[in-house]
Amino acid sequence: MIHVEDLQKSYGSLRAVDGISLDVPEGELFGFLGPNGAGKTTTLSMISGLLKPDRGRVSIADIDVWSSPKAAKRLLGLVPQDLALYEELSARENLMFWGSLFDLPRAKLKANIDLWLDRVGLKERAKGPVSKFSGGMKRRLNLAIGLVHNPRVVLLDEPTVGIDPQARKNILDIVRDIAREGTTILFTTHHLEEAESLCDRIAIMDHGRILETGSVEELAKVAGDGDVVTVNGPFDAGRFRAALENQNVNILTAGDGAGVVSLASGRMNVVALLQKLGEGGIEVTDISIQKPSLESVFLKLTGRELRD
Ligand SMILES: Nc1ncnc2c1ncn2[C@@H]1O[C@H](COP(=O)(O)OP(=O)(O)OP(=O)(O)O)[C@@H](O)[C@H]1O
Ligand SMILES: [Mg+2]
Repeated sequence: MIHVEDLQKSYGSLRAVDGISLDVPEGELFGFLGPNGAGKTTTLSMISGLLKPDRGRVSIADIDVWSSPKAAKRLLGLVPQDLALYEELSARENLMFWGSLFDLPRAKLKANIDLWLDRVGLKERAKGPVSKFSGGMKRRLNLAIGLVHNPRVVLLDEPTVGIDPQARKNILDIVRDIAREGTTILFTTHHLEEAESLCDRIAIMDHGRILETGSVEELAKVAGDGDVVTVNGPFDAGRFRAALENQNVNILTAGDGAGVVSLASGRMNVVALLQKLGEGGIEVTDISIQKPSLESVFLKLTGRELRD
């Protein structure tokens, strides 16, 4: 349903998107998970036809976004990361303005607006100016605007960023509902738990590239199947690495004062790990053990932790 081939985009000498290809079949909820600056928004902007790629192509339901922009855009809904709202207009007026760009019959648009005001919990607040809205209300309206023409394909760019838990739940419930109704969804986030609980498949992105794609279960295997151990202490990264050289461990990250490793299942346990570290002169002050997860995979692939 969404077909993306070798997309590239540079800003000056910075390659923001560096050859992204993907296929999202109809009805799938696909997530882009990546830290700040990974290139998520730039990719979504190119898929939605807002930003011209330097290279590559995008089609939605076999319609090329660049040669047939109008037809493609009718199928698409975009919920942008940066709120696109007219502050002086009401929620209903905003929906009317943005919805009228899609050539829907007037009665149909009005019915859709009532439905979406209700779904995002803004029915009672449809009239006042948006400038009086809380951050969560604005996010919910931003979502409704992207969905008001009931598009078959929806691009959501960090739809829950910076809002309270209740507004977040409302938004995530809606995303789940439209997925269940058969909408094809491409969703970006830097919340691991969101990606984990929502998406059928996830692409882990960094520096403009997709590092790995798969279901949560498939991705979890990338870091190995053994326990993931985090150790802290007054050591430097180089010594930590040296102490574990040629051992049955996979170093996911090593920094000064903290290291994370994945143990080779059945071949190294925590006691043996501590012993090796001790032999290498590494003092451990704190240790924690987890099962392999999306988080450990993310660490392994990007060398970074995701933070809100
Ligand atoms: N208009 C622009 N001009 C110059 N550089 C840009 C522009 N837009 C984005 N960039 C740069 O391109 C890279 C990718 O940015 P992008 O916004 O796509 O990342 P992102 O994954 O959406 O990040 P975030 O999680 O912060 O939203 C970043 O290094 C960013 O600074
Ligand atoms: Mg972004």
